[in-house]
Amino acid sequence: MKQDYNKVSLKDFADLEEKDIFQRADIFQDYLNYFRKEKQVNYRIRSTRGAEPVAHILDPDTGEEKEVFSFISNDYLNLTKNPEVIQAGIQALIKYGSGAGASQLIGGNLDIHEELEKKIAAFNHMDDSIIYTSGFGANAGSILAMMQEKDVVIMDLFVHASVIDGTFNTNVKWFLHNDMESLEKVLKDVQHKYRTKMIIVDGVYSQEADLAPLRKIMALAKAYEAYVMVDDAHGQGVFGKNGKGTPEYFDVLGQVDVLTGTFSKSFAGVGGFLCAKTELVDLLKYYARTNIFSAAPTPQVTASILKAIEITENKPSVRQRLWDNIHYLKENLIELGFNIGNTESAIFPIIIGDDVKVRESAQLLLERGIYVNPILYPAVPRRVTRLRISLIATHRKEHLDHLLNNLEDIAKKLNLPRHQYVS
Ligand SMILES: Cc1ncc(COP(=O)(O)O)c(C=O)c1O
Repeated sequence: MKQDYNKVSLKDFADLEEKDIFQRADIFQDYLNYFRKEKQVNYRIRSTRGAEPVAHILDPDTGEEKEVFSFISNDYLNLTKNPEVIQAGIQALIKYGSGAGASQLIGGNLDIHEELEKKIAAFNHMDDSIIYTSGFGANAGSILAMMQEKDVVIMDLFVHASVIDGTFNTNVKWFLHNDMESLEKVLKDVQHKYRTKMIIVDGVYSQEADLAPLRKIMALAKAYEAYVMVDDAHGQGVFGKNGKGTPEYFDVLGQVDVLTGTFSKSFAGVGGFLCAKTELVDLLKYYARTNIFSAAPTPQVTASILKAIEITENKPSVRQRLWDNIHYLKENLIELGFNIGNTESAIFPIIIGDDVKVRESAQLLLERGIYVNPILYPAVPRRVTRLRISLIATHRKEHLDHLLNNLEDIAKKLNLPRHQYVS
């Protein structure tokens, strides 16, 4: 396939007719090499010290280590670097060793796993919880176990991939993003046709960075006898007076039917969870394949997460610093005329709508020591391809100013779309 690689996307290599998998890999390699030559592969950049506002990466061109202002991490409270979180992990490593040795069902169920299940359920004012080794597995595995042939999931168009991957055994109906009329229409259509009706939304949408209107969704669910499942991966630790996520923010804490989330963002580790009433959690402990056929989380990460949740609960000042950063960046991006969509969270899309310009912008920023993610089609529709910026609590004003100054500069240089902008 020799063609203008600027006009194709990852989607074009997902299935190549007549090509077996190794031939497909060779063709895809040509595509990758083209962008490597153009110095526009901003993915899988090697970081040498983990998540920090000033991160250390290996320059993709020279291979040399360099410092960059980093805006790519979802470690929102930057607890991955918190000494207490690290110490808790070290102590568990010493006490339990480096692995759990089996899945929770058949021998790998440590006391601290159960402590974490109790703690994350209590944090969310829910009855009980089950943990998983990833947030992805929490969603996909739980939905696969819950929703079957006679059931239906009713999903927002922008739910996370892990939700979609859980729906292979069931029926799927989509509603337009955050559009309550569209949701109601679907609910009416499915009202008497299925056994279990589960509305699934993200608390915070990972690309759009806006929030699901939980109160309205729950009211509709009640009216049409559906259940509500919320994936609050980006909400936990960030939203609500006590950091208990979008349910707290919308004053429906403990009231959704199913709440999932990840330990990989605010909770500074890796893994995921599902909270619900005890009977459902118990069922998942025997049917969710991503839990029962997968080794339990490591002792180190489990203990670190426990400490991170404790800090999230007890030190609101960390969250306040994150929100100070969010307000400052938002105000200034708006003033500079960038299209930041409907963001209400620590994630900022800078919508550009042109793959080539998105790539060039990310590359130029990286050359200037600023690390942001280019988000291209098919991750988002072509007309809204973008740069994606994530803030953490330890960013300082000078980091944000440096980002803003450079964004303004490259916007002029590359003629990026801006409304309200007067040169
Ligand atoms: C909304 C959402 N749900 C689930 C996940 C998956 O979580 P994890 O990275 O822990 O697998 C992500 C991950 O980035 C996410 O953004």
